[in-house]
Amino acid sequence: MVKKNACVFISGYGSNLKSLISNSRNHNFPVNISLVITNNFKAKGLLHAKKNSIPYFIINTKRRNFENKVLNLIKKYNISLICLAGYMKIISKGFISAYKKKIINVHPSLLPKYKGLNTYEKIIQNKEKKTGCTVHFVNEKLDSGKLIVQKSFFIKKDDKVDILKKKTQKLEHKAFSEAIIKIYRYN
Ligand code: GAR
Repeated sequence: MVKKNACVFISGYGSNLKSLISNSRNHNFPVNISLVITNNFKAKGLLHAKKNSIPYFIINTKRRNFENKVLNLIKKYNISLICLAGYMKIISKGFISAYKKKIINVHPSLLPKYKGLNTYEKIIQNKEKKTGCTVHFVNEKLDSGKLIVQKSFFIKKDDKVDILKKKTQKLEHKAFSEAIIKIYRYN
């Protein structure tokens, strides 16, 4: 199987990046993680790129032409799939339409519930019984693209934000890779 090249965008800790890198080592996995891009030079997740000798680039999103720089990198590394893994910047409509159906995102809720930020706090506030994670295609509207994989769990009475985050991310690490496998199975 000839693997495609995927790029992962991160802003922080990079636990999803770590699990994608590890799953991509399986020879049946459809993509290699060939490029990492971040908007945050302090992103801890960069360590995973460094450790695994994956090229990484820090983008200054305050610069006017930063998206052109990203597009050039995506072309240079022959990227077929862009994975947003905790990338906390809105991507422009132009960029999204240039890569329609090729950008996917992981979100810590059962979309369409709880789009945007502070999901765990909102879930607790609303006394939800169940939550989970969603991997979806990115379209022009925030957290609104077609769902690819969702995984859920029941919330316990004492679950606080940090526990919900831990449980949700554990599911994200499985869901992200499953979503990538699903995308390429039908292509
Ligand atoms: C993930 O839990 C992801 O769902 C969330 O950021 C976290 C990044 O964790 N993304 C969003 O909230 C996007 N709206 P990681 O850096 O450890 O992979």
